[in-house]
Amino acid sequence: MRVLGIESSCDETAVAVYDGDRGLLAHEVFSQFDLHRAWGGVVPELAARDHIQRLLPMVRATLAASGTAPAEVTGVAYTAGPGLIGALMVGGAVAESLAYAWGVPVIGIHHMEGHLLAPMLEPDPPPLPFVALLVSGGHTMLVEVTGIGRYRILGESLDDAAGEAFDKTAKLLGLGYPGGAALAALAERGRPGVFQFPRPMMDRPGLDFSFSGLKTAAVVALRGRRLDDQGRADVAHAFEAAIVDTLVGKALRALEYTGHDVLVVAGGVGANQRLRTDLAHAASGRGARVYYPRPGFCTDNAAMIAYAGYRRLAAGQHAGQAIRARPRWPLDELEPLND
Ligand code: KG4
Ligand code: ZN
Repeated sequence: MRVLGIESSCDETAVAVYDGDRGLLAHEVFSQFDLHRAWGGVVPELAARDHIQRLLPMVRATLAASGTAPAEVTGVAYTAGPGLIGALMVGGAVAESLAYAWGVPVIGIHHMEGHLLAPMLEPDPPPLPFVALLVSGGHTMLVEVTGIGRYRILGESLDDAAGEAFDKTAKLLGLGYPGGAALAALAERGRPGVFQFPRPMMDRPGLDFSFSGLKTAAVVALRGRRLDDQGRADVAHAFEAAIVDTLVGKALRALEYTGHDVLVVAGGVGANQRLRTDLAHAASGRGARVYYPRPGFCTDNAAMIAYAGYRRLAAGQHAGQAIRARPRWPLDELEPLND
């Protein structure tokens, strides 16, 4: 089976081709950063308009790069949610139309299922069951994964997502959008201990997160001070340390709670080097293993959508011919796969 995957839920247009026997054959990502930068964040209407412009040429180019003729595509998968409604509708309309024209089955995939299955594309995939720490711009979640579509949400952010907190604090530091990676780079030059930020909800039992207070801590640290470059790096360092400590602490707590010893980390913040280093250290201390997708598959991509689509289509699941677009879609409502 050969599946064309399409991702257009937010500010990346992405297309990929996954083959059941040969694995990932090609993938392309276009980031709309330049389009939204002037506005300081994603403008939903502009995102949808840009997806419309780019998607079909990217489908053509990715099929060509994978050496796939349209007649060789045996299934289509697209991100059906969660995400921006207009952006989702573009991907859904293109995917459903192509599948209709080609006479092949099509399926709408949950974006976060894509993220949590992304490490399955690597040469050393994580064994089931595992705990997934999903840390993206829109979501922060700990999920117990016992099979495809068998997801139990153990905890999630009650307010800002981890990536959102990075982006908001980066903006306060004048780092522009999306600021997560820029903040991490600045933090490397920061001195530990100059500023002390809280570790939200670590003193309470449970696996939920709250990150909006960290932005407030950054506002307080910056208020009334004219910080030079070193001072801003010190604030970035304190912020990153607080968020990473909290993610590491809760992830370990989730392993303890479930009794699993495999942790999967995915989503854009999974590219954060400090998170990776600290998690590796903490996990090895308790005999657990941590798996990540390659950095390019931590952030939004269509390879993860094509793969999730392949797994579901190969098991006989598929959608009707109605375009699905669900801006909100609880991860634990997905249909389990019996394989
Ligand atoms: O998964 P993703 O590409 O998109 C969503 O589904 O939201 O995640 C994007 C998020 C952004 O908030 C971005 O600032 C953050 O991931 N991010 C990082 C790093 N690289 C990307 N945050 C911290 N450190 C990084 N190195
Ligand atoms: Zn994402």
